[in-house]
Amino acid sequence: MTSEQPCPVSTHTEWDPLEEVIVGSVEDAVIAPDHCSVRAVVPDKLLARLPGEQGRPFPPALLDAARRELQAFVDLLQGAGITVRRPVTHDSAISFKTPYWSSRGFCYACPRDGFLIIGDQIIETPMAWRSRFFEGYAYKPVFQSYFDNGARWVAAPRPMLRDEVYDPAHTPSPPGMPMTYVINESEILFDAADFMRCGRDIFCQLSNVTNMAGVTWLRRHLGDGYKVHLLKTVNWRKPMHIDASFIPLAPGKLLINPADFDVEGLPPLVRKWDLIIAPEPEKAPPGLFSDYNMCSDWLALNIFSLDEKRLVVEQRQTGLARLLEKHGFDVVLLPFEHYNPFGGAFHCATLDVRRRGTLESYF
Ligand code: NVA
Repeated sequence: MTSEQPCPVSTHTEWDPLEEVIVGSVEDAVIAPDHCSVRAVVPDKLLARLPGEQGRPFPPALLDAARRELQAFVDLLQGAGITVRRPVTHDSAISFKTPYWSSRGFCYACPRDGFLIIGDQIIETPMAWRSRFFEGYAYKPVFQSYFDNGARWVAAPRPMLRDEVYDPAHTPSPPGMPMTYVINESEILFDAADFMRCGRDIFCQLSNVTNMAGVTWLRRHLGDGYKVHLLKTVNWRKPMHIDASFIPLAPGKLLINPADFDVEGLPPLVRKWDLIIAPEPEKAPPGLFSDYNMCSDWLALNIFSLDEKRLVVEQRQTGLARLLEKHGFDVVLLPFEHYNPFGGAFHCATLDVRRRGTLESYF
């Protein structure tokens, strides 16, 4: 790297103007394994299917629809002048094993979970799902090119994911009771999607894939230049990933999922921001994709910022779109519901590699 060439990896917030992004893929996907870590987070409808269908390809009509929606999203990004990079997928049906367990893969749809980009640094995260153990291989070529051009690239300690780290009898905590999770604290675990970046302040939650050891590792790794704030969630559903719950949109503007956060319980520094309380999501009619959905209807909030004004929102969510427009945002509506069975929506499907901006303190 010469001093004239800027680092290809540079992201400090969820909203700075986007220049380069990795978008996931639905190729080579199979239905997720029937493991307690998966059962702890997916909707009941999918739970019923897992024993008979785990490891099988998705129905072709569903896959085709997801492919078309994804292509339209990629076209939109490229049309806006943003560079889009893609993973190199491999067959998720192949079994693999470690000294302690074996599993099949799942898919490559959500680069948001396995990697956290903080400044010029790619951090590989220790994910709790065994089926995701080798998912990162799909991104090695693109990360190698970023490394060759100046990016920093580290991995948190590789977890062992032995039976002892899971509670197979786990059930979601009833409202009003302390939250409990399917994973314990015996090793470091976190998914990047449980963290949201606002410059020097990073907000996170504990979940069925992120434990306190994971938060502590990240705090220690980032050091004094960052503050990692652990938020108290009231998500009694099946918490996994904060990016449909707490969505920073621009300096001073934050979209909040009222089913997951009690506004009074948010830290005082956050309550100084303009809090946009999301409306109930519009529900899709029953259909092929809803039988395989991995997420709740609140996935509606899994929106993606092109910059601090332009947002990509799922086309059914017109109420949310109107509210965001009232707050000064320009909303692009796109169909994306068939991506839900692959694990997410726009924010999950992306990893923003470079956004124009500098490291700031917004609080
Ligand atoms: N697990 C969340 C979605 C996170 C993007 C939900 O199902 O609501």
